[in-house]
Amino acid sequence: MLARVLPSSPLIEQSNKLSLLLDLGALLAREVELDALLSALSSRIAEALHAERATLYLVDDASNELVSHVTSLPVIGQIRLPAGKGIAGYVAETGEVVNLRDAATDPRFFSEVDKRTGFRSKTMLTAPIRDSRRAIRGVVQVLNKHDGTFSTEDEAFLLALAAQVAQALEGTTLRPAAGSARGVSLRGPFNHIVGASEPMRAVYEQIQRAASTDATVLLRGETGVGKGLFARAIHANSAKRAARELVTVDCTTLPPTLIESELFGHEKGAFTGADRRVIGKVERAHEGTLFLDEVGELAPAVQAKLLRLVQDKSFERVGGRAPQQSDARIVAATHRDLEAMVAKGEFRQDLFYRLRVVEVTIPPLRARGAEEVLRLSEHFLAMYARRHGRGEMQVSPGARRLLCEHDWPGNVRELEHAIERAVVTAPTIRIEPQHLGLPARTRARSDRPPAPTEGVHLPLGLSLAEVERRYVAATLAKMEGNVSRTAESLGISRNRLKRKR
Ligand SMILES: Nc1ncnc2c1ncn2[C@@H]1O[C@H](COP(=O)(O)OP(=O)(O)OP(=O)(O)O)[C@@H](O)[C@H]1O
Ligand SMILES: [Mg+2]
Repeated sequence: MLARVLPSSPLIEQSNKLSLLLDLGALLAREVELDALLSALSSRIAEALHAERATLYLVDDASNELVSHVTSLPVIGQIRLPAGKGIAGYVAETGEVVNLRDAATDPRFFSEVDKRTGFRSKTMLTAPIRDSRRAIRGVVQVLNKHDGTFSTEDEAFLLALAAQVAQALEGTTLRPAAGSARGVSLRGPFNHIVGASEPMRAVYEQIQRAASTDATVLLRGETGVGKGLFARAIHANSAKRAARELVTVDCTTLPPTLIESELFGHEKGAFTGADRRVIGKVERAHEGTLFLDEVGELAPAVQAKLLRLVQDKSFERVGGRAPQQSDARIVAATHRDLEAMVAKGEFRQDLFYRLRVVEVTIPPLRARGAEEVLRLSEHFLAMYARRHGRGEMQVSPGARRLLCEHDWPGNVRELEHAIERAVVTAPTIRIEPQHLGLPARTRARSDRPPAPTEGVHLPLGLSLAEVERRYVAATLAKMEGNVSRTAESLGISRNRLKRKR
């Protein structure tokens, strides 16, 4: 009512703008496709500014091009603008806000984009996206205001919004380029899922395809490879179901008698202590996703009931008489060798076939290559350094070597724990091999005596005092300037050390 009386009251505008940012918070926490996230962002910006369309361009770390993530219909392919090209390129170079009444007449205008999109740019407002260190990460551009031209308030608003976008992007796995360099790089197509190796690309494709259907998915792979993460990604990227619940059933933790009522619910009086009707997880997942984690652990009696659910979506509450229906998409995961279990009669063959309509095997970490291990390490390092308030940290060459050599039987989870442990235990900002807490077998390899390059070159003919001075300086550098540790390592007092510098 209020909205109709005061269609553009500043208060309502403000609350619209606020809810725009709140929505973003929810999106950012999920394993959604980054492109979906960025286009959701652009659509909301267009709406808030009463514009026909908004485009978010990000500076690509590798090529320095501006890469578009376009919003509203018609859906068009990605636009890549060479650095400095067009109004967007100009804004990315200069950091100025550009507000045009008739974009097509501006000499900086790059008409190729309109030609490709079949769109006609008239009014156009473009602002830089700067992160907290003021580095330009991209550009946001809004086109064709519905009512008149973009005002100076619009300019200020878009700038403020761009700052929020920059901040929001920091909560994603779109990584800013190193140091003060511009740009961002994608660590994988899904937010919070890191990986760019060949075997992971194949997984992304399968997951993206599966997410858009209702098919039952079986996720396989060793412990700690990310099965839980991908189950959530399937849910979050399913347009039809993402807004509903993802309900997880951990098949390992419950005895068979309890799991049945946990899954299907029970009627009042079904058993001693059942003093009211309880809705089960299958029912809660109606129109959403039911994630059966460690499905290989299910007892045979429950397997039979599950088969019925998977086959015709029907089930019965414990103690109930009428069959119920649930339209839940089923995602199951296991690290067990289900074929062997079927052969031994421990897992129902018919259920196995019903579950593996789409089967995705997530490769172990050791099959993804050293580069991937380092990419994941950086991701966890940034995440835990922030969480434990340790600022920016680094991994020493020795620790990197150890990370690359280790064979990761516990996969990504083991790596995540090793990095978190190192973040907490390293006395300086530099992580050394011993902070990773990896087993001795692999550590032994990197505990070899330091390579000669780590020493200090002392040509013959120096005075002893000079030898001492150079040796002290090299030790100090190795200890990152930490005087106490240097003194301790040299076996002298801090005062004496100061006199020797
Ligand atoms: N590609 C990835 N990028 C970022 N984090 C990841 C990735 N893969 C796994 N992780 C993290 O590693 C941990 C283990 O992942 P997850 O629990 O999904 O493994 P799992 O395969 O379900 O293991 P288990 O079989 O033991 O249950 C989680 O904290 C998850 O967030
Ligand atoms: Mg799991």
